[in-house]
Amino acid sequence: MPSIQGFSKLSKQEKINYLLQHYLKDFPQAEQILYQYINQNEKLQRLHDEFIENTLTNFYLPFGVAPNFSINGKNYVIPMAIEESSVVAAASKAAKFWGERGGFKTKVLGTEKIGQVHFSFSGEHEDLVAFFNQVKPKLLESVKSITKNMEKRGGGISSLELVDKTADLPDYYQLHATFNTKDAMGANFINSCLEEFAKTFSAEASTFFEASKQVEIIMSILSNYVPNCLVRAEVSCPIEKLGSTPEVGQAYAEKFVRAINIAEIEPYRAVTHNKGIMNGVDSVVLATGNDFRAVEAGVHAYAAKDGKYTSLTHAKIENGIFTYWIEIPLALGTVGGLTGLHPLVKLAMALLQNPNAEELMQIVAVAGLAQNFGAVNSLVTTGIQEGHMKMHLMNILNQFEADAQEREKAVEFFKQHTATHSAVVEFIQNLRSN
Ligand code: MEV
Repeated sequence: MPSIQGFSKLSKQEKINYLLQHYLKDFPQAEQILYQYINQNEKLQRLHDEFIENTLTNFYLPFGVAPNFSINGKNYVIPMAIEESSVVAAASKAAKFWGERGGFKTKVLGTEKIGQVHFSFSGEHEDLVAFFNQVKPKLLESVKSITKNMEKRGGGISSLELVDKTADLPDYYQLHATFNTKDAMGANFINSCLEEFAKTFSAEASTFFEASKQVEIIMSILSNYVPNCLVRAEVSCPIEKLGSTPEVGQAYAEKFVRAINIAEIEPYRAVTHNKGIMNGVDSVVLATGNDFRAVEAGVHAYAAKDGKYTSLTHAKIENGIFTYWIEIPLALGTVGGLTGLHPLVKLAMALLQNPNAEELMQIVAVAGLAQNFGAVNSLVTTGIQEGHMKMHLMNILNQFEADAQEREKAVEFFKQHTATHSAVVEFIQNLRSN
């Protein structure tokens, strides 16, 4: 295929034509597919076009809701944007189950965010420490114009330290800053502060140190590892409330705790276990216009913080009480970014009664715990396939554009048979050939 110069300068139509001509020649439906997803509302389409570069069309995800979440005594309908079947159903089921057993209790344990200026310095360590102590007030002064508004909202820079990393990498040091960004996710704020620190630090160093022992700024960037931007969500109830009889409740609670213990000590299980948690977390993060890649990166780093990847949820039985909880780092925003731009994100926020960032952290943690409950509950009882296969069956029936009668027959048949893809295809083909 030919490479192309100046692709970004082409109009949308020209970009599409170029791709149709060179890359999609053997895919005759391409043009129709691309255009059918373009919104007819020009203003709305322009908004989406401008989120990224080289936009051709839109990529839809289903936007659903899980109702009946009781969090600290308040009711919520939680919006979820996700393509995976069963996730919204499992969240809704968990919400109902725990709503009848006291609901979810949550607490924000910290809201600290982190950013670093990474630099090299080959001079004496003590000289650098002396320089840093001298220049620190100037560094903080240099960002005043950036921090002014954030300080008015009660946020800002909470600490700025010099960190010596030379034991790990020769000549490597950091300016390590912590921030409180209130209701903003704060990426732009943090990165602007860091770049200003770097500029001032480097300029001051050039007159402080001799030419051969200069500070070389390598990069300035926030960290998505936010172990102190942490939230806890919990459910608990007497074990007898977990089954039709106290014995059934006890056996269920013990098996459930055992399943969590396995995820705590076995990384292969922990990764899948946490993936299920992220089904809930990401779908709310996405629906509320937050950066799910940042959340994913931070969450998995946190799960490995003690040197071994482990479960984000925990459970115990103590004095006949089953307690089950999650602690998860979540750097989220409810102002700025997509939250003020994307109409569906605004709607999602309104649905949640316009939470602040701390409230959103709690809602998202609950979605993660609920999702994990749904998954582990299925795993230790019926197995995961029963629920999955029902939704899977619907997806395959949709793929074959099955009519109401065919659907009814398929649902009836697959109550007794395993709905593998090939079995469903064969069933429809047989139905249609008769
Ligand atoms: C599937 O998306 C998620 C699960 O595998 C999670 C789990 O195993 O706990 C069901």
